[in-house]
Parts: sequence; structure tokens; C-alpha cells
Amino acid sequence: MGCLGGTVLKALRLLLLLLLLAAWKAGSRQVHYSVPEEAKHGTFVGRIAQDLGLELAELVPRLFRVVSKGHGDLLEVNLQNGILFVNSRIDREALCGRSLECSIHLEVIVDRPLQVFHVEVEVKDINDNPPVFSVSEQKLSIPESRLLDSRFPLEGASDADVGENAALTYRLSPNEFFVLDVINKKDKGKFPVLVLGKMLDREENPQLQLLLTATDGGKPEYTGSVTLLILVLDANDNAPIFDRSIYEVKMYENSANQTLVIWLNASDADEGINKEMIYSFSALVPPNVRRTFLMNEKTGEIRVNDAIDFEDSNTYEIHVDVTDKGNPPMVGHCTILVEVLDENDNSPDVVITSLALPVLEDAPVGTVIALISVSDRDSGANGQVTCTLAPHSPFKLVSTFKNYYSLVLESALDRESVANYVLVVTARDGGSPSLSATASVSVEVADVNDNAPAFAQPEYTVFVRENNPPGCHIFTVSARDADAQENALVSYSLVERRVGERALSSYVSVHAESGKVYALQPLDHEELELLQFQVSARDAGVPPLGSNVTLQVFVLDENDNAPALLPRPGAGGAGGALSELVSRSVGAGHVVAKVRAVDADSGYNAWLSYELQPAAGGARSPFRVALYTGEISTTRTLDEADSARQRLLVLVKDHGEPALTATATVLLSLVESGQAPKASSRVLAGAAGAEAALVDVNVYLIVAICAVSSLLVLTLLLYTALRCSAPPTEGACGPGKPTLVCSSAVGSWSYSQQRRQRVCSGEGPPKTDLMAFSPSLPPCPVPDVEVEEQSIGGDCSRKVGYYFFISISFILFYFFKDFIYLFDRDRDRQRKREHKQGEGTRCGARSQNARITP
Ligand SMILES: *[C@@H]1O[C@H](CO)[C@@H](O)[C@H](O)[C@H]1NC(C)=O
Ligand SMILES: *[C@@H]1O[C@H](CO)[C@@H](O)[C@H](O)[C@H]1NC(C)=O
Ligand SMILES: *[C@@H]1O[C@H](CO)[C@@H](O)[C@H](O)[C@H]1NC(C)=O
Repeated sequence: MGCLGGTVLKALRLLLLLLLLAAWKAGSRQVHYSVPEEAKHGTFVGRIAQDLGLELAELVPRLFRVVSKGHGDLLEVNLQNGILFVNSRIDREALCGRSLECSIHLEVIVDRPLQVFHVEVEVKDINDNPPVFSVSEQKLSIPESRLLDSRFPLEGASDADVGENAALTYRLSPNEFFVLDVINKKDKGKFPVLVLGKMLDREENPQLQLLLTATDGGKPEYTGSVTLLILVLDANDNAPIFDRSIYEVKMYENSANQTLVIWLNASDADEGINKEMIYSFSALVPPNVRRTFLMNEKTGEIRVNDAIDFEDSNTYEIHVDVTDKGNPPMVGHCTILVEVLDENDNSPDVVITSLALPVLEDAPVGTVIALISVSDRDSGANGQVTCTLAPHSPFKLVSTFKNYYSLVLESALDRESVANYVLVVTARDGGSPSLSATASVSVEVADVNDNAPAFAQPEYTVFVRENNPPGCHIFTVSARDADAQENALVSYSLVERRVGERALSSYVSVHAESGKVYALQPLDHEELELLQFQVSARDAGVPPLGSNVTLQVFVLDENDNAPALLPRPGAGGAGGALSELVSRSVGAGHVVAKVRAVDADSGYNAWLSYELQPAAGGARSPFRVALYTGEISTTRTLDEADSARQRLLVLVKDHGEPALTATATVLLSLVESGQAPKASSRVLAGAAGAEAALVDVNVYLIVAICAVSSLLVLTLLLYTALRCSAPPTEGACGPGKPTLVCSSAVGSWSYSQQRRQRVCSGEGPPKTDLMAFSPSLPPCPVPDVEVEEQSIGGDCSRKVGYYFFISISFILFYFFKDFIYLFDRDRDRQRKREHKQGEGTRCGARSQNARITP
């Protein structure tokens, strides 16, 4: 198209208009083509020259040209063949937008003559645009509680094409919850809507991812898609739950405060505040359980808050609620069964019911004394109780029934050995460690009169000096009774008998209560040497029991008898003086007479010595008297100077303290040798030698006896020292102590013996005491020692002492036996030789209660 000047252009326009009108008039047929958009360069559109009726040859000369307003060179005409073809890419959407009709208007102009043709080229749409969503992902938040058929509009896709190519259809990816509904709005396209087809569950599917695809109706079709991200919002639709409905818990009683019982863990499928939980005891839980256990509301821990005692309650049932904080809240439940296990925390109980106390000591075996019941609050082995009895005693426990026992007498009782038993009953349970309890029962044994009063010895020996004051206390008997009270109340009495012509009770009496024995009258040794009697002791029991003791009361001699002169045997007249005829021819040392005297006493008191009283004139007497024999002998040969009648006063004196004396008067008539009777002088002469020998022997014996006595004293002292000193037996009247009596002198020795040998012979008393030493009798000190010993009660040492004395005594005895034998033989020989037989006879009296007749 050229550019012409203004006027020319005006003229041209006008011309053109005219031409057009002419052409419209001439031809006026519309040529119509169509071409798809996006056709390739050179795409045939139509034979425009031919269709317009133009010759091909005239095209160039006639300046055939195509004018397109605004559309440039989209289409071109080949002037050689007159074909309209696509010159450059035609985009319908760019050309016409979304209008349905889209065509390119072409003006074909030829000159000479100027002709204008109008050609319409319709641009046909092709599906060259896919549906497009504005975003690649759409998010939707949907509460899980939304009801079915709830609708959720979606943003649709757009398609730049038109017509079918822009007709979209929607598809939703397969899922179980949503379906797609498409709303068709007139002229405004389609709108997809999600419809809830199944209830959402956040707990199962917290979010869903769906794909929405849009497809256009072109051929080929295009699709576009968008991801739908659906977030399911939580609703409090789940109750908290426990993993079990019942929990069983075992725990020991006495668990410490705050011990964890159970830690509950409920769970809630919801989230956020909907899963926040509070634990609590259910309303069903009784107050005692609420007191005992403490619930931590937040953590669900249940702890011990009070003493757990199996014996109070051995199970607990705890109902627990758990509530979430959603709106409305939801509640879960569970039950906890707490089984309390027993511990051995209870000691057994022992209850003793005393039945029969005190128990008589003669109660038969099997007597039930007490009932014992035991119990233990624990259970099982912890509550099984066994009972034992201690210490060892004559009682036993007999199980009568489970947990019941009888205390039964198992063996005989003796109150005198054990008067009271303290028994300890121990009850022990079977727990581990086991617990025990004890109870003590004091069993008193009641007395029965089963013991007679008993004396310490069956026999007591008492020494009493004669001439005691009347009513003097000589001894005390004492019997013991092992029983109690009146069964042990002892009274004493004398067992009456006759002593000679008199009753015993005239000599002694016994005080019933004290047991003191009194001598009622002065005793006379010469009358009664030994008083033997029995004292009976009797208790006050019913029936009473009694026993006897023998008392041997030795009456000790006192020097209460003066020596008595004896008349010369064969010669009459005891009262007068002793007169003898003495031949003047006798030599020195000739025995001319003998003074005989006896003493009713014994021992020293009867041991006589003879002394010549000095003559009144002071003249020296030719006679002397032998100290112990009383034999009067000449000291020198007699001569004429000696007066024919000699009067000698011989003082006879015993060895008592004080000594008693008697005076014998001896009248000697000196005669010439022939006058003196031969026999007499022979006897006297012979006697003189014998008497001299006797005197010597006596001296020896005295020395020997003194030695022995000293030995004994020594031994006794030694023994006593060894034994420790002991109280001597009672002898209230005077020093009647056996040791003194025994050890003091020869004469007293005989008292130690219970029997007595006495020589009543003209030979004189001194020998009698010596002869009394007899082997067949127990030695002197033994009874005395026995008295002492038994009061002490030493047994072994007593025997040792006893045997020691026996041995000593026997040794002494054999020594003396030989000695006496020698002496006897010597004397016999002398007698045979010089003296006539029959002068001295022995009349030994062996008797216990011998009355000595002087
Ligand atoms: C609860 O949880 C705690 C801590 O995890 C645990 O010790 C306890 O045993 C649980 N309780 C139950 C009943 O499972
Ligand atoms: C156990 O402990 C709690 C808290 O310390 C206290 O309140 C309660 O009195 C205790 N119970 C006993 C029996 O001591
Ligand atoms: C004691 O002696 C008396 C008289 O001899 C006698 O009757 C009695 O039975 C004796 N008692 C005992 C226990 O021996």
C-alpha cells in the first residue's frame, strides 16, 4: 500500500469507496475460508484468485494485493497460482481472545479496473491450551466432626481454549471420604465441590491428600490437576482409656508411707487439650480407701498414704476415673484390686487361766493346773503358734485343741524340794523371722504333812556334872520338820519309862515348844552314871507325824566323896585303927602293913595317895608309906630304941580339886622275931618287894599315860585346827565338855567310854582306871568328836579324824597290852613266889548303868 498526498488520498478514498460499491454491485459474492490456528507456514487456505474470478495472468498486471487490517502478514497469496496460504503462526487466542467467532478479514484489491473483494478467513480453534489451576496445592481444614454430605467448594480450573476445547470435566483421585460434585453455572463454567461421603477420623487419618484433575473437551484432550491437602481437625471424640480395665496389685502390709502402689497410664487418642487428663477416685470409692491411698491427679500415681494393715483389710478395690479436658469432657474407668500380703507383724497372744492353785504336793500325775490359750492375728504360717514350757519342771503342756493347751502335772511334786515353780510359757509363730510371746505362771505347791520332824542325830550324848542345881537346863533337842505351817509345828515330849524305882519324869523334863531338857533334881554320879531316855517330837499336822531321839546323859563325877578306909580283910572291925604285929627282926624295906581305902568317886577323884603324917614327937619314924599303894614298910632295920608300939597317922588323899582326905590310924606293935606269925611276915615281906615294883610300874604308867594324853591332845588340837573350831555340845551345868574330861587326866579317861571296868580289889584303886582301857570299846574321843562333827555336818573329814583316832588308839592299845602283860606276868611271878593266892580277886562289872557299890 502506497502513501499518496492528502488530496490524492482523499480522492482515492472516495474512489475506492465507489469502486467497492461497484465491485459489491458487480461481484458482491463473499468468499469464505477457514483455517485452523497454529497452522504451519504455507498451509493452503483457499484458491482465492479463482474464487474471486480473476485470471492468474492478470493478477500481477492488475496489482493483485491483499490488505488485512491489523493482522499483517498472517496470510499471503501466491501470485503465481493465486492460492492463499498461511504465512505466519496464527494464534486464535491472541487474535480473538475468548470470543467464540474469530476470523481474519482480508481485502483483495485489483486495479484496472479497480476491484475490491472481501474475503473472510475464519480461524478455527484447536485445543492447544490445557486446563490450568491457579495454585498447585489447595489446603482445606476440615473438623473431623463434620457431618456427612458437608460440602466444601473448590477453586476450579480455567482453559484458554473455547468451546469444546474449553469444556472442562473434573475428576477426584479415589478416596473413601469424599466425592466430587460439579456445579454448572450458566455462562460461568463449572465449579467443583467436595462432598463428605464418610465421617472423617483424625485419629485414623489426620490428613488426606487428594488430586483433582480437570480435563477439557478438546481432541486431544488436555488435563490439569491440583493437589488437595485436607487437614482433619481434632474433636474430643475419644475418651481416655486404660490398657486394662482391672489391675491387680499385690503389696505387703506395713508398706512405707508414699510407697507407689500403681502408676496408671491412661491414653487419649485425641490431641491437644482433648488429651489432657485428670485422674481421680471414682465416686464409688469409700472414704477409708480415699484415706489409705493418695492419687496424683496429673500423673496417675497411686501411693500409700496411711498404714496398710493386713489384719484390718486384706483387699482394696479402687475405682479410678480419668477425665480429659475436652468439651464436653470424656471419662475413662478402671479398677485396681490391691491384695495386701501378710507379714509376720503380730506376736502371738498367750492367755493363762489359772484353775487350781496352789497345787497340793500329793496331787496325782495328770492333774490339770491351768488352761492356756494362744492366738496370733497373722494368717498362714505367720499365725501358726506352737507353745513350749520352760524351764524343765514336773509339768507339761498338753494340747487339747488347736491353740488350746492344758498345763498338766507330769511327775510327783515335793513342796519340800521346790515350793514354787515359775513356769514360762513361750508361744512362737511360724513366721520368718518368727515372733514369740511369753507368759509366766507361778505354781505354788501347797504343803501336805508328809515329813516327820527329824533330829539331826538319832542319839545325843550329854555330859552333866553331878550335883547340878535342880531345874538346870542340860540340853536342847531340836527336830526339824520340812513341811510348812502347822505341819512343821513341832512339840516335844518325854517318852516315859522307869528308871529304877522312879519314873523318868522325876529326873528330867522337856519343854514342849523349845525342846529344852531340864534336870529336875541334882544328879548323883555315884548313883546314876548314865541316864538314857527318848524324847519324842511330833508335828501338828493331821494326822500328826513324829520321831524319837535318844539322849544319853552322862553324869560327870565331882569330887564329892572323901576316901573311905577299908577294914583289913580277914580282920574284923572296919571302924577302928589298923593294928599289926611287926617283928623286930625285919630288914629295911619290909612291908609291915597296908592302908586300904576306896573313894566312891572315880578318876582323879578316886585316885588316892597316901602320906605319913609326921609323928607328934618329931621322932624319926622307921616307917614310911608308899605314896600310891598305902603299903607301910620299914625304912631301916628296927632296933631296941624303937618303941614297941608305934602309932602311924596315914593321910589318904584323893586327887580331886579340892582334894578330900581321910586319916587312917595304924598301930604297929613291935614284937620279937619268934612272935611274929611266919605267914604274915612272909606275906608282908613278899608283898613289900611286889609293892615296890608296883610303885615303879605306876610311875612308868603315869608317865606313859601322860605322854599318850599329850599326844592325843596334840592330835586333837591339830585336828580341831584343821577342821576349824566348832561349837561344842551344850552342857549348861558346869564345864561338862568332853574334850576337857577326856584330855585332862588318866582317871577321866574312863568316862569317855560308855562302859566301865572296875577293879574292886584290895590292891588299890589306882590300877582300876588303867585297866579300864579296853580294846573292845570305841576309843575315847570318838563320841565327843561325833557330837561336834554332826552339828557341823562335815562328813569326810569326820571320818578321816575318826579313823585316825582309831588307829592311834589301837597302836596305843597294843603298846599298853604288852606293857600290862609284862607287868602282870612279873607280878604273878612274884606272887607265886612270895605271896599266897586268893588275896586279891577281880570283880569287874561291865554294865551300862552300873551302880557302883563301894
Ligand atoms: C506407666 O508408665 C510408667 C512410666 O513410663 C511406668 O513405670 C509404669 O509401669 C506404667 N504403668 C503401667 C500400669 O503400665
Ligand atoms: C503419709 O505422708 C503424707 C504426706 O507426707 C502425710 O500427709 C500422711 O499423714 C502420712 N501418713 C502417715 C500414716 O504417716
Ligand atoms: C517313839 O517311842 C515310843 C515309845 O517307845 C513309841 O511308842 C513310838 O512309836 C516311837 N516313835 C517313833 C516314831 O519311833
